Amino acid sequence: MTAQLKMNVIAARTNVQVVKVKHRCEVAQSAFNRRRPTADVPTNEECELVQRESPRRVATASKQAEVTLLSVKNIYPTDTDYGEHAAAFLSGNFTPVGRECTAVLSDVRDQDQILKNDRVQLTGTIPVDFPTGQFAYVGPNPKFPLNHYKKWGDGPGQRASGLGIGWHHWFEGDGMIFALTFKADGSIIYRNRYVRTDSWKLESMRQTRIFRPLMNADGATFLYNAACNFVETGSFLKDSANTALFYYAGKMLSLQDTQDPWEVDPHTLKTVGRCTFNGSFPLKLPFTAHPKIAPSNGDMIFFGFNPVSPPHCTIGAITPSGNVRALKPLWSSIVGSIFMHDFVVTNKYTILYEGSMDIEPVRQIIGRHPLQYNENRIARFGLLPRDEVNSKHGDVVWYDCSSAQSVFHFVNAWEEIDENDNLVIVIIGVREDGFFHNALKAKGARDWIKSATLKQEPIPRMHEWRISVGSGAVEETFLFNIAVETPRINDAYGGKRNRYAYAGRIHTESLVEDAQLKFNGIVKFDLHERKQQVYEHAPGIYGMEPQFIAREDADSEDDGWLVMYIHDENGPDLGTSYCAIFDARNIMAGPLAKIAVPERVPYGAHALWMPLSNSTEATLSSSAANTYQSVKINAPKKYAFRAEQIEDLLKAVTVGVARGASGLFMHGWRPGVKKDSPEYYSFARSFGMRLAEQGRVGSVRKKEILDEIYTGFPASPKLVLYDIEGNSECKVVREALSILDICCLIKPCPHGAVRHQGEAAALVHNTETVKFPVLLDVSTGDVFSGAKEILNHLYIVYLDGARPPSHLSTKAADIALRVGGKKEVDSCYASPTKMPVVPLTLWAYEASPFCAVVRDKLCEMELPYILRPCARASVRRDQLQKRTGTFQVPYLEDPNTNVNLFESAEIIEYIESQYGVES
Ligand SMILES: [Fe+2]
Repeated sequence: MTAQLKMNVIAARTNVQVVKVKHRCEVAQSAFNRRRPTADVPTNEECELVQRESPRRVATASKQAEVTLLSVKNIYPTDTDYGEHAAAFLSGNFTPVGRECTAVLSDVRDQDQILKNDRVQLTGTIPVDFPTGQFAYVGPNPKFPLNHYKKWGDGPGQRASGLGIGWHHWFEGDGMIFALTFKADGSIIYRNRYVRTDSWKLESMRQTRIFRPLMNADGATFLYNAACNFVETGSFLKDSANTALFYYAGKMLSLQDTQDPWEVDPHTLKTVGRCTFNGSFPLKLPFTAHPKIAPSNGDMIFFGFNPVSPPHCTIGAITPSGNVRALKPLWSSIVGSIFMHDFVVTNKYTILYEGSMDIEPVRQIIGRHPLQYNENRIARFGLLPRDEVNSKHGDVVWYDCSSAQSVFHFVNAWEEIDENDNLVIVIIGVREDGFFHNALKAKGARDWIKSATLKQEPIPRMHEWRISVGSGAVEETFLFNIAVETPRINDAYGGKRNRYAYAGRIHTESLVEDAQLKFNGIVKFDLHERKQQVYEHAPGIYGMEPQFIAREDADSEDDGWLVMYIHDENGPDLGTSYCAIFDARNIMAGPLAKIAVPERVPYGAHALWMPLSNSTEATLSSSAANTYQSVKINAPKKYAFRAEQIEDLLKAVTVGVARGASGLFMHGWRPGVKKDSPEYYSFARSFGMRLAEQGRVGSVRKKEILDEIYTGFPASPKLVLYDIEGNSECKVVREALSILDICCLIKPCPHGAVRHQGEAAALVHNTETVKFPVLLDVSTGDVFSGAKEILNHLYIVYLDGARPPSHLSTKAADIALRVGGKKEVDSCYASPTKMPVVPLTLWAYEASPFCAVVRDKLCEMELPYILRPCARASVRRDQLQKRTGTFQVPYLEDPNTNVNLFESAEIIEYIESQYGVES
């Protein structure tokens, strides 16, 4: 190549990269930066129109969501700030989602109903004999705004070691489960939830990353980071439960290599805790992400890989009644270990695999990561005979392969007798020779992927090993040349000879261009005939791991369906995710049905199908019921109060009058008259007409209102406010929230209390003095301190560039508080209280004296709560009326106890008894 040609190529590459990055930035920022003119709140008539368009969904959607304080910032991570690997796996549809929600879709099998609506979530038809059960998927979904995942030391609250560089790695993200439950009545329930492991709780509590990166840390940094993790948390590694799911002995498990299994309630996806298998599981014993069911006795066979201390591998079994038995530690290596992710079982054998990725601590001395793909290490299989009744394992015998190689996922294994009556173990798996280890590195990944893809050699492909148990010979053959991963089979054939396998076809262009692992097709392999069928998704659509679900009374191995999440990257806001159902016998026909899910499903790890019995479905049905309908609500009384409240209420009234009722009306409030309807709130009704109040909101809130109408449930807060009652700056900010109609998670920080102060200090990077209020906008990742900054931000972002009005004056608010004698509450000292697991919700508006006394109590008790402002003209007045049959505030909802209350006196009495330390 001539020098000029080289220069042209380099210039062309540079231009492509520049254009590409620009395009990404535009796409990523477009949704966030979209600015529309300030808009009217959708009217009741508009609400009715949307409901007519989608009656099923609006009428039956149940979302109880919730709070996700820790959303993601909608930015495109760059290689420079994040490293190649993290930049790839924190962008596009790998971008984490920050919202947990539940939605119920009723009777999606009613095709007539579906055809009447153009906003349905289902396209195609769910087969009438599709079974009841739950399809679930898990993957890494980092919980903090993206800037926390920059090179370690550049994120909030992080300090670099100075020894080397540590980058975030996909495997280290927090686990989130995305599940669809298909019920016998034709309804479908959607949920997505974090697996709340100890690591998740610890980091969430401190609102910052604590676990330093290990997978992509330089050698010396690796050791230092691991030590810091241990000192700070008691664990070297982050516990994320983000890799795979398994259902066994009535337990749904969320799993991650090298960690304990975590149990999740399949009905609610709530994290139950570490699974101890009735107390029989040893403390801190690692558990594989891919346990197997023994075909002989139905035991769940597992191994535990411990990369740190020997024994590096322990195998065992769990009985169908959920108890551990037959534990066997293997002491094949003392110093250093071999990375293990998957294994296989047959009728009589448990078969371990030690590939060529090894962990040698000594490498850190020369600055290398201890985990490397070692081309000098010959891979090998370890066969352990297993008792078919009690799952007791005999001694391991190792069988060497011909070369260095690695396998992340096996397909299946079985026993055969050859023509000479010798026992042969046949193993099918996806072999790759160090491909992912290099492709997932922080530096040089793209160049490596490019050259490896050209060579084809290390690409993951279907491979067969035939181990002659008597002679020790291992025959090896690549079965197909197509690059695939996440292989699955009909699980009923585990450990038995089977014919069909299914996998995602790797989109090599995405790998080469973006270092992203995506599947642009589904492959069905016929292992008998050595044939393959490839169903290609449409351009821009990528699939995730396929799950085979057998038809009841199936007459062949492939008689059933493939279910998987697919993601359509076309369109705004990073695209839309669907659950797609294919006929496994004819994948080329494409999806029989596609169900759009309410939350984007980031490309993740592994899938699970969990059948539902009638009894479990009954439980599901009740647990999925709308919380607000399942609780009893006390009867509201107009302007009722108790004698002991009089002084506090008078003070609050005085403050409200002195503030000119700021926070009573929404921005742009104006009255009107409309035809009466009891469904909607109105201050005055007469002669079949009602007073219809209108306000104006910003484009962000308008979109949120439309979502609320569409789903039938209020949006999660995007703001977190660290607040003190009686503080004039805090008061004007809350007034602005009412005026702008923005809900907010309030974290009270009364003087002398400690519950939330540390978080606020960390956000403003000032441990000495924090100027309250402090506002975190989780949708932008911005933090502000003091009323002036916060008001500017709120008006610019939530009223489309408007400026705060002059009446939101802290001086005026201060005078009002003093006149009303409420200034003393500025120093309301906290009394020790119990922390609710989930924040309470308070429907209120700033100018109401009855709401003020409830806020005082919540502040005094440091109880976090979601404030849903209901100023005059807010659609929340209609929403509350629809929920409860009336509108009155304050209205408190406690999702922890399902207690919902009107009446300030009763609310105060309740929170004192429920969360006071004496209760
Ligand atoms: Fe896996």
